[in-house]
Formats: sequence, C-alpha cells, structure tokens
Amino acid sequence: MRAGGVVAFPTETVYGLAANAFDPQAVRAVFAAKGRPADNPLIVHLASKNDIPLVTSGYDKKYDALIAAFMPGPLTLVMPRKSCIPDEVTAGLDTVGVRIPSSPVGSRFLAACKVPVAAPSANLSTHISPTTAEHVYEDMKGRIPLIIDGGECSVGIESTVLDITGETPVVLRPGAVTAEMIAGVLNVDVKAHSGKVIAAAPAPGMKYKHYAPACDCVVASDMSAALACYAERLAEGRSPMILCRSENVKKSGGARCIALGQDDAEVCRNMYAALHNAEKIADYIICEDLGDKGVAASVMNRVNKAAGGKRI
Ligand code: TXA
Ligand code: MG
Repeated sequence: MRAGGVVAFPTETVYGLAANAFDPQAVRAVFAAKGRPADNPLIVHLASKNDIPLVTSGYDKKYDALIAAFMPGPLTLVMPRKSCIPDEVTAGLDTVGVRIPSSPVGSRFLAACKVPVAAPSANLSTHISPTTAEHVYEDMKGRIPLIIDGGECSVGIESTVLDITGETPVVLRPGAVTAEMIAGVLNVDVKAHSGKVIAAAPAPGMKYKHYAPACDCVVASDMSAALACYAERLAEGRSPMILCRSENVKKSGGARCIALGQDDAEVCRNMYAALHNAEKIADYIICEDLGDKGVAASVMNRVNKAAGGKRI
C-alpha cells in the first residue's frame, strides 16, 4: 500500500479496493481496476477517530455525537475536505467522505497502512458489491495483486452516507445506520433518503447503474406476485429464482427460492450473496419487496437498483 499498490480488504459492510488516499496515481489505479467513472468520489477510510483531522478542514462539533455513536461502524460522514486530499479521491468536490470500518481484519489492515485509505467497493463498476473474498476474486482476478480474506461481511450493504456540510444533515445513501437512528442521536431533523420525506441531493455515484446482476431482475410486490411471475418465466423456458424472507419459503410450493433470513439484519447480511448465487444458477431473479421500514428500506434501495426499477 505504501508503495502505491491496490489491495482488496474486508470491512463490516462490503469489501473495499484500497489505495493510499494521498497518492493520486494509486487512486487512479483503483478507478482503472473497477472501470469506474472518474466523477464518482471515493470514501476515505481511517483506522481511528484520531485520524479524522488528517482529512477534513473541520466540521460542526455537534456531529461528534454521531462519531461517538456510530464510528467505527457503517456510517460515512461527508465533511469539508482538507487540501491534502487529491482531486482524484473527491472527484474535485470540496467535500470528502470519511469512514472508520469496525471489522477486526479491516481495522488492522488500515492501522498497518499508516495512511488514510481511499476505497470504493471492490466490484467491477455496475456489478453487485462483494461480501466475500470469493466475490472480489470473481470480479478482480487478473486486475489486482492481492485480496485480504476476512470472511463474510457482517452488515452486508454499503455504509450510510450522511452529508453534514449543510444546515440539515442529509442521508445521501441509506444503510444500516438509518435516518431515524441519526435523528435519535442528534436530536435534530435529518433528511432521510426516502422520496416521500425529502428531496435529497443524491450522492454523485447514485445516478449510475448499480448492483446489476448478470441476468434480468425484478421486484415483486408480494409472494403471490413473485409466484405468478415465476410461473410465467418457467412457461417461457426460462430459469427463474425467487429471493424472499425465510418465512415465505413455505409459500413457494416448490418454486426455486433463496431464503434471505429471518430478520432485517440477516436479510441485509445475505442479500448480495443471494444475488451473486442467483445470477450463477438462474437467468431471472424475482425478489420479494421487503418493505419500506428501517434497514429493510436500505436493502430495497439496492435491490430496486439491481432490478433497474422494474416492479411487478
Ligand atoms: O460501506 C462502504 O461505504 C464501502 C466500504 C468499502 O467502505 N464503500 C463504498 O464505496 O460503498 P463506493 O465508492 O462504492 O460508494 C461511495 C459512495 C458513492 O455513491 C459516492 O458518490 C459517495 O459515496 N461519496 C463519496 N464521497 C462523497 C462526497 N464527498 N460527497 C458526496 N458523496 C460522496
Ligand atoms: Mg460501490
């Protein structure tokens, strides 16, 4: 890392593709390995809260409550950027996304790097994000020299991205730390990412196609819509697969299903692995709508993108 290399490493959310954040050439190598558009900024990862002043020119001290509550953890704060952070990292913005991962292997890696680490998710641009070292290998073999295997990611979707540079904190990307949890700690209004509550300025990256499986994917409003779609695809000679909450597998009547888990945390942890599995063994993915509350809403944010907004 210190010599300008690129390394894939585990975090509690998804695997990241790391480069020294102070080294523009190393950062460009990350964009090249992913095939990522240069106008989509990278998050800077730190080993410890003590390192935050290395990357930001300062922030409102009321947000220290968030840092105390959720960092290390699956929260990224968008803060004013310090000038030592190159344009390659921030895509020329005057802000920088800052995150402190909590996974043990990820934290030890970051501490050993001894520099802030710019890292996007370790997938090819537009593909499903990786939650195991095997997922990284499938996308990155031949493109990067090293993957650190820390096992399965415990959270399973990317961090919540919260912009704290304006009057009101704004969730640019929903994640396991929800707008409700943030508002609870800060005791101020938070603009959530959900359409009905707010008109959020989206994170630059959110406009791109994302999380796309290699096959068709659709969101079904409930299990009966999923089963009807399944039957139609079978009749066309296709090979569909339903992704649903574990409790709904018993309603499947023999249709091929991947059980996502019992509760929201488990569903969140398993979703990307389920999409990775399904794209290998099926040619049409039908995902049950998991609802619009809490972490399930954050998971659906990703699934709706995987489906390209298609609903039945
Ligand atoms: O959990 C995560 O955040 C993972 C792990 C590896 O830490 N990283 C990740 O990075 O998801 P990436 O590059 O796939 O997504 C970063 C998102 C993008 O939507 C990007 O536009 C947004 O964060 N972002 C980064 N810096 C920003 C900034 N200064 N202002 C607004 N959005 C920013
Ligand atoms: Mg990504």
